Amino acid sequence: MSNIKHQNYRNAYHYSPRENWMNDPNGMVYFKGEYHLFYQHHPMGTTWGPMHWGHAVSKDLVSWEELPIALAPDEHGTIFSGSAVVDWNNSSGFFDQEPGLVAIFTHHDDSPGANRIVQCQSLAYSKDNGRTWTKYEGNPVLRHDTYVDFRDPKVFWHEPSSQWVMIVACGQTVCLYRSPNLMDWTFASEFGEGIGFHDGVWECPDLFPLAMESNEARWVMLVSIGDDPAYVEGSRTQYFIGDFDGMTFKPDERSKGEIRWLDYGRDNYAGVSWSDIPTADGRRLFIGWMSNWKYANLTPTDGWRGAMTLVRELKLETLEGEATVTQQPIREMEAYRNEVRSFHDVIVDEAAARLVDVRLESCEIHVRFDAAFSLGFKVRVGPGQETVVGWDAKTNEVYVDRTRSGLADFHKDFSGKHLASLRVTGALLELRIFVDRSSVELFADRGQAVITDLIYPDPASTGITVFADDDRKVIESLHIYDLSSRG
Ligand code: FRU
Repeated sequence: MSNIKHQNYRNAYHYSPRENWMNDPNGMVYFKGEYHLFYQHHPMGTTWGPMHWGHAVSKDLVSWEELPIALAPDEHGTIFSGSAVVDWNNSSGFFDQEPGLVAIFTHHDDSPGANRIVQCQSLAYSKDNGRTWTKYEGNPVLRHDTYVDFRDPKVFWHEPSSQWVMIVACGQTVCLYRSPNLMDWTFASEFGEGIGFHDGVWECPDLFPLAMESNEARWVMLVSIGDDPAYVEGSRTQYFIGDFDGMTFKPDERSKGEIRWLDYGRDNYAGVSWSDIPTADGRRLFIGWMSNWKYANLTPTDGWRGAMTLVRELKLETLEGEATVTQQPIREMEAYRNEVRSFHDVIVDEAAARLVDVRLESCEIHVRFDAAFSLGFKVRVGPGQETVVGWDAKTNEVYVDRTRSGLADFHKDFSGKHLASLRVTGALLELRIFVDRSSVELFADRGQAVITDLIYPDPASTGITVFADDDRKVIESLHIYDLSSRG
């Protein structure tokens, strides 16, 4: 494809395959200096179709190199979502001298002969750092007699009980299984009945420990929920906090009573975390699919469709006595910054005047200000177009308003303003706003509230302005960075 960088709406610093369709991130694993990102991919078309695993690698989680397709459909069906691990001790017996990669994924068989859609879990392995894959001849390794929706296995090594654990979506719950070798799986427990949000099929679960400030670890479970026509929000991801002993997940009191969303925008779905990040690094790294099943097949891009969110670091912080999952963009993004403006103790009025000639399509805005007043930015501004991102001190909410952001008529529920309540933790509020050719991501107050939204402005809509409820107020600091060098 010619001049791929400038395909319409293709982002400068968010991953998309060179062409055609992408949805969920799959099989993210770190091995021998490379971060692997696999993903649901239809290599023959720009809408969802027979699923393959596409593949990209990166050394810094920002610049990705696309590699040939890793897994293609076979006699058991197409290749749905799943995970990958490093089999350090050759528990599977697939490897000789060196440890290698094992992918655990869902085979989806909806061929006309089958009297119902069959989903089961299968394995593939790679001895050459993910470049080529062999499907296990004993596939599938796990089936279910009753669940029609039985998919998206996420596997991790549980050190205290020296076993592999699989969390897999089962209709409206998740099931946990355990295994010594990735091939023989024993049922451990089921979670989800009567707890959490259930209007939509449960998909793409994840389960991992996160250390609290006290160093005590708690377990976080992510569960994505499919689109339900009754809700304008479409598909989204909820989370639970609790404890896990290798067999059973026990949610804490708050998780029992309250639904907690990972993101308050519309376009962060099916996200899960990286496997095998070295202990010396220790981060829990997450990426999501930046779209929504409500309109994913209709977005106005040509030749490609689907992008990932920024890679984010997940943490657990105590906010007003409650453990809360926070998300921050990875620090690797900072290496791509080209500073365009930098102000300290500037009044809003003057900052606005000094932004008049700034034109940016792909940028980061990093601002700190007194949370007692309302402040916002208009980004991707052009004739009749703007996307508004800010803080409302009266309602204690941050928001992204894409009502006038550009193309929106491809779906009736696309246009709108998305809000997240925020209890500001210090005197100053920090907002980080990442804008790209077709996206906006807002990280507020150290990532305790996040809003991820797609937008489709004209390429020429590149203005930026700042505004406040009182434009004599002082902004503590404001930095604007061009991030288009990746494009
Ligand atoms: C989530 C999902 C998964 C499934 C995949 C199919 O977006 O529906 O449950 O494995 O997409 O592409």
